[in-house]
Amino acid sequence: MSMYRDFPEDFVWGSATASYQVEGAPFEDGKGASVWNEFEKIPGAMRDDVNGDIACDHYHRYPEDIAHMKNIGLNGYRFSLAWSRIFPDGYGKVNQKGIDHYKRVCETLLKNGVEPYVTLYHWDLPLALQKEFGGWESRETVKYFGEYASKIGEEFKGLIKYYCTTNEFLAASDVAYSMGLIAPGLKLEKKRVNQIRHHLLLAHGTAVSALRAADPGAKISLAENSSFMVPLIDTPEYVDAAKKAFREVNAHFLTAVMEGKYLDCYLEKEGADAPVFTDDDMKIISQKLDWLGLNIYFGKRLRPAPETKEGYHIFEETDLKRQTGIADFYFEPAAMYWGSRIAYELYGLPIYITENGKRSETDKLEPDGKVYDDERIRHLRLQLLYMAKAVREGIPVKGYFHWSLMDNLEWHHGFRPRFGFLYVNYSTMERVPKLSAEWMKEVIRTGRIA
Ligand code: FCB
Repeated sequence: MSMYRDFPEDFVWGSATASYQVEGAPFEDGKGASVWNEFEKIPGAMRDDVNGDIACDHYHRYPEDIAHMKNIGLNGYRFSLAWSRIFPDGYGKVNQKGIDHYKRVCETLLKNGVEPYVTLYHWDLPLALQKEFGGWESRETVKYFGEYASKIGEEFKGLIKYYCTTNEFLAASDVAYSMGLIAPGLKLEKKRVNQIRHHLLLAHGTAVSALRAADPGAKISLAENSSFMVPLIDTPEYVDAAKKAFREVNAHFLTAVMEGKYLDCYLEKEGADAPVFTDDDMKIISQKLDWLGLNIYFGKRLRPAPETKEGYHIFEETDLKRQTGIADFYFEPAAMYWGSRIAYELYGLPIYITENGKRSETDKLEPDGKVYDDERIRHLRLQLLYMAKAVREGIPVKGYFHWSLMDNLEWHHGFRPRFGFLYVNYSTMERVPKLSAEWMKEVIRTGRIA
């Protein structure tokens, strides 16, 4: 057998979680409330009216969860810190017990050969900041996010090297403050939401400065689920159209971070609702990052369209059988290749896939004690094949974080959607590695994808 590897020995194989989705223990050891603790109380806000009081009990069971990572062969773990464990009121008084907890988590990871990749903000804003300042509507929240980042940089030097400032601007702004689907569950008008978008970008940039000042060795990125463009053939015309579309469709988020400006097409489209910003803001927002984290679940197929003003045409999706099960998005494994390639060709940063995964509502524990999640393996294999293509062509895709390590609280969708390598039995909190975990273990061991 040839010794050829699709993925190099030093490839980072990880899994990902977020504090609110797995930790539980919302008020333990001095933690302050987050916006979720209010949101959960609204009848109907959470499917089945569940809450995050226990979630996966990861707060207490992290040693067992890390043992599972080690057993699968995972050498990276992307997780988020709950801001309100560090600053219960969002700012001011520091909660040492929260810091100590995450130090123990990092030490346990490192002892087991797993590198921490830490997200500072994965949607669980301290409630006090929402109440006092309207959350991301205010620049006060941006300022306090910087202070939080600075504290983390100081305290965790030597323990955390890789950071994502924020996770997915779109959910943190629009889904939370315009659609009202996730906490704090507001439906504000466009102008205010656009300002919130801008403040989140500014929070990212402010955290970059703060982390760098506190820990010059930190390797900083963000995790973005941009709209990824998939040209239907690999010719310069198609690829150029895809790049143009990528920059324009993501003009309010990733393009602004990477290029330091809002494209005219965005400002014109928003008109009087466009965000208010200064040149200084744009400088802070667009500091050069060390790497780029992409959450890739979907792709938009497109062709060049000289007959249109934009010059490209994005295909409408009609094939229901190909739905991923997340909102109305469609499975397109080539997004793994094209997302990485286009982002790299435009911006030149090393790429990590900070999330990618498959939702299922049918995973179940069989009488033989196993979980046969064939569908996840089938899905994952195609995703990884396209990632291998990128690696083979020399695009610096350095790591992959599967969403998720374990089944968890899928925000307002509750516990029914399962995304994990580990099946969680919510009555006993027992974790059972699914077939996909065994499959993944072999991919990691051999560095090959069939
Ligand atoms: C991503 C989120 C993550 C999880 C997955 C399924 O958008 O970052 O927390 O909800 O989707």
